[in-house]
Amino acid sequence: NQRRMVVVRAEAINPEIRKNEDKVVDSVIVSELSKPLTAYCRCWRSGTFPLCDGGHVKHNKATGDNVGPLLLKKQ
Ligand code: FES
Repeated sequence: NQRRMVVVRAEAINPEIRKNEDKVVDSVIVSELSKPLTAYCRCWRSGTFPLCDGGHVKHNKATGDNVGPLLLKKQ
């Protein structure tokens, strides 16, 4: 009676964005936002990362996930 070893590996969140970087970090000076509302991607599927391009809609439909952007609003 042999026991099977199952190796569970967590999946990466980021499928393809800037994979050559050790850690993807973006910073924004909020007072310098050019538009009254800017949406930043949190799903890692945007073609305009770090900005949201609406790609989360397709991802959510395909996976049942519920991710959406971070909205920065200029006062
Ligand atoms: Fe990623 Fe909208 S495309 S949050």
